Amino acid sequence: MKDKLDELRSKAISELDSIDAPSDLDSWRVRYLGRKSALTQVLRGLATLPLEEKRSVGAAANELRAFLEKSLALKEESVRESEVARSIERGRLDVTLPGRPPALGRLHPATQMLRHICDIFLSMGFEVVEGPDVEWEYYNFDALNIPPDHPARDMWDTLWIDFETEDGQRPMLLRTHTSPMQIRVMESRLPPVRVIVPGKVYRYEATDATHEAIFYQIEGFAVDRNITLADLKGTLFEFAKQLFGEERKVRFRCDYFPFVEPGVEMAIDCFACNGAGCSLCSGSGWIEILGAGMVHPDVLRRVNYDPEVYTGFAFGLGVERMSMLKYGIEDIRLFYSNDLRFLRQF
Ligand code: PHE
Repeated sequence: MKDKLDELRSKAISELDSIDAPSDLDSWRVRYLGRKSALTQVLRGLATLPLEEKRSVGAAANELRAFLEKSLALKEESVRESEVARSIERGRLDVTLPGRPPALGRLHPATQMLRHICDIFLSMGFEVVEGPDVEWEYYNFDALNIPPDHPARDMWDTLWIDFETEDGQRPMLLRTHTSPMQIRVMESRLPPVRVIVPGKVYRYEATDATHEAIFYQIEGFAVDRNITLADLKGTLFEFAKQLFGEERKVRFRCDYFPFVEPGVEMAIDCFACNGAGCSLCSGSGWIEILGAGMVHPDVLRRVNYDPEVYTGFAFGLGVERMSMLKYGIEDIRLFYSNDLRFLRQF
């Protein structure tokens, strides 16, 4: 009987040793300590044994039961510990792995061009100033020599704001150009001023390949003693060379803007055909890039600058148009249709 118990002990312990799942512990317990287990049978059969044997077998069997129960408890604990260790292992963060690179965005092509143009003028000593998109009629029109009945107002299809003054006027609008900032800046400073104004402008426009209702302009102006048309030409020639290439030629022709006198339109020789005539320049060899002129004496007087002492030049250009020319983009609407296939090219 003793041998049988010893055999049981070594079998039970070697099985217990090989267990590592909690569910296997339970079936082990049933097998070796359960009601139908060999050990329980032995303990139950003690009563039928002679006294001597009852004593020695009883002591040995009880000792074995206590030993197996103790071994089970220890094993349960170690299985639980290794379970915890395994789950920590599963969820472990390896901080030495290289990180997942975040998707990099980029600046919108209009923003890139805007900054590029600003950099060119900054390098010439201009300062960047921004102004309100919602503007008073006075700054957008009247102060720039465009009174209510002036035909030049018809050139801009204006988006008026639904705001009424006490006398029934609606004097607020989305600015149609950045020129109102000429007035705002000169009103608040004494000459000399040398400023560029990047910003959005708005027109009540049916869009097509060359017209958008919202687009960017950059206004530039310089007012000081002794500023002449030669300064305007030199500044804008330098700008054109930096943006479109050293070899560019420029052409100035008369144009009309109520707030400058004289007014000019500036063109560069077509960089696609070098002036020979192609579809980009519609056969003329020249591409118009901006409007400019000498600040009108009435505009200077309106901001209390003495036109006998001070003169200045001003220009305004369309940012998307510069980008279209430089990169051969054929439709301005591409800038605002959020098509990544277009945007990713810049
Ligand atoms: N503001 C004019 C426009 O939007 C451009 C311009 C600016 C012309 C400054 C002359 C001087 O068309």
